Amino acid sequence: MNAQEILEKQRKHLWPNQLLYYTDPLPLERGEGLYVWDVEGNRYLDFFAGILTTSVGHNNPRVNQRIHEQVDKLLHTSTLYPHANQVLLGERLAEITPGELNTFYFGTSGTDADETAVMLARVHTGHQEVIALRHGYSGKSPMAMALTGQAPWRMGGDTVVGIKHAINPYCYRCPLKMTYPECGVACAEDVEDVIRTTTSGRIAAFLAEPIQGVGGFITPPPEYFARVQEIVHRYGGLLIIDEVQTGFGRTGEYWFAIQRSGVVPDVMTMAKGIANGLPLSATATTPEIAQSMVGAGLTISTFGGNPVSTAAALGTLEAMHEEAHPQHVAEVGAHLRAGLERLQEKYPLIGDVRGYGLMQGVEMVTDRESKEPAVKQVGALFEITKQAGLLIGKGGLYGNTLRIAPPLTATKEHVEEALEKLDYAFAQVQEMSF
Ligand SMILES: Cc1ncc(COP(=O)(O)O)c(C=O)c1O
Repeated sequence: MNAQEILEKQRKHLWPNQLLYYTDPLPLERGEGLYVWDVEGNRYLDFFAGILTTSVGHNNPRVNQRIHEQVDKLLHTSTLYPHANQVLLGERLAEITPGELNTFYFGTSGTDADETAVMLARVHTGHQEVIALRHGYSGKSPMAMALTGQAPWRMGGDTVVGIKHAINPYCYRCPLKMTYPECGVACAEDVEDVIRTTTSGRIAAFLAEPIQGVGGFITPPPEYFARVQEIVHRYGGLLIIDEVQTGFGRTGEYWFAIQRSGVVPDVMTMAKGIANGLPLSATATTPEIAQSMVGAGLTISTFGGNPVSTAAALGTLEAMHEEAHPQHVAEVGAHLRAGLERLQEKYPLIGDVRGYGLMQGVEMVTDRESKEPAVKQVGALFEITKQAGLLIGKGGLYGNTLRIAPPLTATKEHVEEALEKLDYAFAQVQEMSF
């Protein structure tokens, strides 16, 4: 099918509210490593990795071999039957998760993992209320939308009670109008204020991303989470850290981004990059906390921990150890960061560059003083980068932050190629009038 036929059928048979990138949406056909091809044969350098998911590159041979072997043996079991892939994956994950986070519940999506985490916290603590962060994103179920802190992703408004939002550590647009580090990370204290003023004072959990993904790669100061953890524990809650976007070496140096702050959460959720694109998620906790689920009620997941997805996850971890170790990500990420900062010096449109490793955000503003979000400019830049053969993402409450996150197998050469295309696109957009 050509692009036009696909788009016609898309309009006819798929829901119209499905968000699609680009004025002319881009039907993709195949991929290899850092590159994907559309149905017309055009090649693109993929610096968004299917929303930070293709961790070790498209069609990675290690992952694909594992998938092929499993497909020919058994496609499906459900969680009613133990499977070697599931237990092996648990063992491999326990080698890289911090502290005692070495027991897992496998599901199918980030939404599923966050739902499971909150259910666990409620059962374990006997409390109901949950604190999340403004600008955060947790997924598309009613509860995940209630946890989410951005109006465009909270369709239908609050339909789930007991979730409150604290201000987020968004240093570029500090909600307290303060400056780091003189602020002393005062925003962390809002978590206590929210608990004391809007809850019963006994919470089940605080849930947050170490770097807010959909929020526009908002990166808290390193000491933020230690302050918050102390508050959350004091009010009887568990610290749930959502590593759906940031996990699996994405931010470099560490396997999980929360490790950078020295904090070991009580519960950690993962999805996206875990299986290089196959649907899989995991909710990790300690054996002691997991034990509290026994007797609380029955739970199954039909597709959770599917043998093919877990085979892909085993292959992904193997490939990461070989080709995309967190140290590699730190090195290539530093190269990317330096290049983006050079672009920031050159183009006033770039207000802020933030993130770690291969998770770099570029917030675009029409004016560095007023910080007016450069939404139209982002739209124009998207079209130009597409024409130039580069795929990137965007996010943020105002939709004005570029999300740059290639597969972790990216090399400095790939980064150079992306920077060249971004430079070309920024040069054009900077000259346009809107
Ligand atoms: C941090 C975070 N949590 C949860 C989710 C939900 O994941 P899924 O789309 O797999 O349900 C996402 C998705 O973007 C996410 O970024």
